[in-house]
Amino acid sequence: MPWNPMYRSVARLDGKTAVITGANSGIGKETARDLGRRGARLILGVRSLERGEEALRELTVGAGGEPLLLQLDLASLESVRCFAAAVRQRESKVHLLINNAGVMACPRAETADGFELQLGTNHLGHFLLTHLLLDQLRAAAPARVINLSSLAHTKGQMYFDDLMLTKDYGDWKAYCQSKLANVLFTRELARRLVGSGVTTYAVHPGVVRTELWRHQGSCMRGLIRPALRTPEQGAQTTLYCALAPELDTVSGRYYADCKETTPSRRARSDEDAARLWAVSEQLVGLSSTDEPEQSPQ
Ligand SMILES: NC(=O)c1ccc[n+]([C@@H]2O[C@H](COP(=O)([O-])OP(=O)(O)OC[C@H]3O[C@@H](n4cnc5c(N)ncnc54)[C@H](OP(=O)(O)O)[C@@H]3O)[C@@H](O)[C@H]2O)c1
Repeated sequence: MPWNPMYRSVARLDGKTAVITGANSGIGKETARDLGRRGARLILGVRSLERGEEALRELTVGAGGEPLLLQLDLASLESVRCFAAAVRQRESKVHLLINNAGVMACPRAETADGFELQLGTNHLGHFLLTHLLLDQLRAAAPARVINLSSLAHTKGQMYFDDLMLTKDYGDWKAYCQSKLANVLFTRELARRLVGSGVTTYAVHPGVVRTELWRHQGSCMRGLIRPALRTPEQGAQTTLYCALAPELDTVSGRYYADCKETTPSRRARSDEDAARLWAVSEQLVGLSSTDEPEQSPQ
């Protein structure tokens, strides 16, 4: 496993707002720590306010002030809508949206809306959230949307005939599909936002020692232990995509180890990206008038 370099940057984010999902632990918490130190105003979306408060105690308050903690359950469209409404009420601009929260390889379960849990949480919840914050992102342009994917996407495929895997569920199969969905979403979002000043990036953070591995047995955890990065190291590619000036004019690509990397063949399918977008809109109850449009230029 190549060493993950720490991303060095003196960029400041004074006066800028960053929204981070799943910010109470792992990579999300380290991302929040770094962006807060740079002066960003932080809005942290957390499933449990109690766990969020705990995390908050570990973060030092930067020039952006005390981070704002808001409840967000990505496995409930109603909760996503409430969270987005609360953000919109407070902020006219969102400069960074970090779609970081995730669950991995868990036993089959469903979201409040009846979606398979991993696709529902990792993709559909973030899909809706991004739509609901688009006005704030556009108003803040240049703004960036960062979607945490994974190398696991390379083992994934989109089961369009049974996206919820009701017939043949596999815990990794569902995770890999959801992480492929993250890359395809990034690709299609970039295409639709050309000319808007909002750019988007998909990230593989490396194999990182976090709570994400909670559903794996001790054997699996033992196998991957030598390759594990710290959460701080795992946050570096997210930070690179959030801060690097050379990415100002790039959008829709996939990054690992703080550099652009070619995603799998399936993740480069424009047809699947457009199809996933259309299905996701239907599933989360968005009409076509809600969708971001390409600039006329
Ligand atoms: N760790 C790795 O090796 C690795 C590798 C590749 C990709 N990634 C990706 O990196 C991202 C961050 O994961 P991590 O490694 O930092 O794991 P983590 O420590 O488990 O953090 C995941 C975060 O997501 C939150 N979350 C889970 N379900 C949620 C829901 N329904 N609504 C809102 N928040 C929810 C968790 O909240 P709770 O604390 O309440 O559970 C937690 O804050 C994920 O998207 C993951 O797929 C990680």
